[in-house]
Amino acid sequence: MRITIFGTGYVGLVTGACLADAGHEVMCMDIDEHKVARLKRGEIPIYEPGLEALVTENVTHGRLTFTTGAREAVAFGTLQFIAVGTPPDEDGSADLQYVLAVARSIGEHMDAYKVVVDKSTVPVGTADRVHEAIAETLAGRGVELPFDVCSNPEFLKEGAAIEDFTHGARIVVGTDAERVKTLMRECYAPYNRRAEKLMFMDVRSAELTKYAANAMLATKISFMNEIANLAERLGADVENVRRGIGSDPRIGYHFIYPGCGYGGSCFPKDVQALSRTAAQIGYPAQLLDAVEAVNERQKATLFAKLKQAFDGDLAGKVVAIWGLAFKPNTDDMREAPSRALMEALWAAGARVRAFDPEAMEECARLYGEHDDLTLVDARDEAVVGADALVICTEWKSFRTVDFAQLKQELATPVIVDGRNLFDPAAVRDAGLLYFAVGRGDSL
Ligand code: UGA
Repeated sequence: MRITIFGTGYVGLVTGACLADAGHEVMCMDIDEHKVARLKRGEIPIYEPGLEALVTENVTHGRLTFTTGAREAVAFGTLQFIAVGTPPDEDGSADLQYVLAVARSIGEHMDAYKVVVDKSTVPVGTADRVHEAIAETLAGRGVELPFDVCSNPEFLKEGAAIEDFTHGARIVVGTDAERVKTLMRECYAPYNRRAEKLMFMDVRSAELTKYAANAMLATKISFMNEIANLAERLGADVENVRRGIGSDPRIGYHFIYPGCGYGGSCFPKDVQALSRTAAQIGYPAQLLDAVEAVNERQKATLFAKLKQAFDGDLAGKVVAIWGLAFKPNTDDMREAPSRALMEALWAAGARVRAFDPEAMEECARLYGEHDDLTLVDARDEAVVGADALVICTEWKSFRTVDFAQLKQELATPVIVDGRNLFDPAAVRDAGLLYFAVGRGDSL
């Protein structure tokens, strides 16, 4: 079938490439001419394992095309996916201007039945607003055409987006229209073969499902970070506690890793947006607000531990950082704990020497001009002569370390591990001071 996707960001591009790969004809539309020109040449603006190959292959076979032309894009598909950004506005609510602009553009150019699919993460009630925007635009043109709006939230993790799209746990579609159900079933049929993954529900429930999923995961993390902080003060080891509780299938092992806080473009934004939605309807979402507050505090723990290790004086110290991305397998530094740490270190007069396997360019883009930042090409280069090493991201390549060598290379033997990568006994046996998260006597 023919499918149009508005927005060639992370979600739009993954959706477009995967649906094309499933055999559909997909046209991706973006207003950014430069980006579209690059995509036509097979250049992918983001780092996502497997995406470049998937885009190139499907472009070569003619199943995936890119355009900046709204008229052409609207004419192309019966399904019109909206996958444009919903950045937080000043008060943390999702800013819908791009979503509604696409809706109006669809209303302006459509000349046959369309199913408009909200793929972007949008507040409950947005499908109604999209419906209204299209209806108003059509009325302005003086034409009457049938269309439906449905919600089809994405559950893609950065770094594993293609796997999540093609082998996801569920495909949620919010609609009451039988016609939409039939078309969405056809759209996802290639990825819905083995088990029935399609879940049809009403539009508002689908919209809320997306926020509830991310808020639940963020809650698990903040909860575990709270337990880690307690463990630290009570002389317990949170890693033992994690194994102890995860073994209960009602709790499970997923997303209970304590650390230096969650980051990325989704959890912080979505928890905030849901809380703002709640506030707007007069319901104070106390748990969500606590999840956010605990996370902010957790992002500050790495700096607090360093400060403690150096008796409050970090001026002139050189701190090596391993890991800048908000998690492994991405170059994304949005809301990354490394940023909170670097900014606090600079404010305290310390210097940073940092390495990340993928996020160096991004870091240079964000902080390249900063006098107290040196970006180095290898993890070992960062530590030579540094006063401390801090681990912010659990890249696989950081897990194997010769602690004796590290002890020799560091000017002061301090490791602050924001991801609990090592066995504390092994680190301490090498004569290093080891400060992890929630690991009993690590303070
Ligand atoms: C998240 C969700 O996992 C996806 O299902 C969702 O589709 C996506 O947001 C979205 O809304 O688009 P993502 O932000 O890519 O995906 O990253 P995650 O892998 O979920 O990690 C988020 C953060 O939580 C990272 O900073 C990670 O380090 C942290 N984390 C994760 C922990 O601190 N502990 C854990 O146990 C798990």
